[in-house]
Amino acid sequence: MNDLVHLAIIMDGNGRWAKRQGKERSFGHKEGAKKVREITKYAAKMGIKYLTLYAFSTENWNRPKTEVTVLMKLLSKYLHSEIPTLLENNIRFDVIGDISKFSASLQKEITYAKEMTAHCTGLRQILAINYGAQDEILRAINKSLQTHSEITKEILESNLDTAGIPAVDVLIRTGGDCRLSNFLLWQAAYAELFFSKTLWPDFSVGELETIVSEYKQTERRFGGVVTP
Ligand code: IPE
Ligand code: IPE
Ligand code: MG
Repeated sequence: MNDLVHLAIIMDGNGRWAKRQGKERSFGHKEGAKKVREITKYAAKMGIKYLTLYAFSTENWNRPKTEVTVLMKLLSKYLHSEIPTLLENNIRFDVIGDISKFSASLQKEITYAKEMTAHCTGLRQILAINYGAQDEILRAINKSLQTHSEITKEILESNLDTAGIPAVDVLIRTGGDCRLSNFLLWQAAYAELFFSKTLWPDFSVGELETIVSEYKQTERRFGGVVTP
């Protein structure tokens, strides 16, 4: 049986979920944020160590300004409202992505949430915000070059936003599309991939349990062969 240490989720389908009910896309984002709390609590209970959630990509700035504003407001609201839940469940909050592009106040809120939960030893919830794997890898290469003329796997990994975090075991994308959309391209090199047709606000603990039990039975070979 495989251990599940690092679960990563591309939380896609909020907009379509809202449209299907004749509502604004922002309504879907609000429902999506609620689902983050439910799935995070469950992942903590299951003993998963790292949960990385794709919340805003480097490409998502291309959306209409009104939608970007809604997403930034939701993020700020989440950073405030979730701290008690995180503390109650011994969850440490973290982020990956280039947060220097966010407003000064949002950056402060991110730092505050990280500091408030820094002592928590259970699950680490990692929000990927203004995250793009290509951007992350380029930043890591440039950082590595400041101190090394030749870059090894270890040096590069120590300069990725996920430094110190183990590779992804399971990567789930909801919303029906089968693509990675620039998420964790390095860290998911050997992840088991699951694509669900369920739109993120409809995703459930039950569906997660089904995916996890399938993953546990999967034969992970990492390029080797299985010895009988
Ligand atoms: C995912 O849902 C959330 C973000 C990218 C912020 P979408 O907003 O992409 O929803 P769809 O894919 O348009 O339905
Ligand atoms: C991926 O979803 C990013 C997040 C879930 C945050 P998108 O909706 O942005 O991806 P594409 O545009 O369908 O590839
Ligand atoms: Mg989408």
